Amino acid sequence: MVTILFPTFKDVIVRDKAGEEIIVRQYYHEKDREKLIEMYVNYNPNYSCLGLPPMTRTAIENWIDYLSKNGFSIIAEKDEKVVGHLVIVPDEKNRVDLMIFIHQDYQNRGLGQEMMKLIIEYCKKAGFDGIMLVTERTNARAIHVYKKLGFEIVAPYYEFDMYLQLK
Ligand SMILES: CC(C)(COP(=O)(O)OP(=O)(O)OC[C@H]1O[C@@H](n2cnc3c(N)ncnc32)[C@H](O)[C@@H]1OP(=O)(O)O)[C@@H](O)C(=O)NCCC(=O)NCCS
Repeated sequence: MVTILFPTFKDVIVRDKAGEEIIVRQYYHEKDREKLIEMYVNYNPNYSCLGLPPMTRTAIENWIDYLSKNGFSIIAEKDEKVVGHLVIVPDEKNRVDLMIFIHQDYQNRGLGQEMMKLIIEYCKKAGFDGIMLVTERTNARAIHVYKKLGFEIVAPYYEFDMYLQLK
């Protein structure tokens, strides 16, 4: 585990392609844990990626607690409900591993790209060297978004490892 003091992430209001305003803000574990777990309990498993999110409530709780101890998250919130979650987990090489999940009702409306852009700027300001992520080679939408934002495929095997150099 790498201990890092993460800078504060300022709240942003984004307008999605459906014209809805959605708040993107820092995740606070004590206050937001239940809301985030609720998003994943209601998450359609057809949109899981590499076995995540976990399926049962207990496994989701353990996963969220693990991520909160080891990483930094931002969430998208609409009407007090979490509709998107992006987490970065630093590694030993001053890079971060990134995962993102948008609730099925909010996918394909530009929210994922907005959250990615915000975290890329955040990671630059925080001084990280790069962002690493893994996706399935069949996940055309995710790959489209990542490539559009400058990520390159660095290991094209069963999974795709993708990387964005920040420095
Ligand atoms: C992948 C994900 C994060 C993207 O977020 P999103 O908010 O749905 O995506 P956006 O609306 O911002 O952008 C989607 C883009 O993909 C394009 N797209 C949609 N379906 C596509 C497909 N089948 N193939 C290629 N491109 C596709 C859209 O046209 C849009 O691109 P554009 O803005 O250039 O027109 C989200 O869909 C998601 O959570 N998916 C399920 C979980 C997942 O796969 N997470 C990735 C971790 S492995």
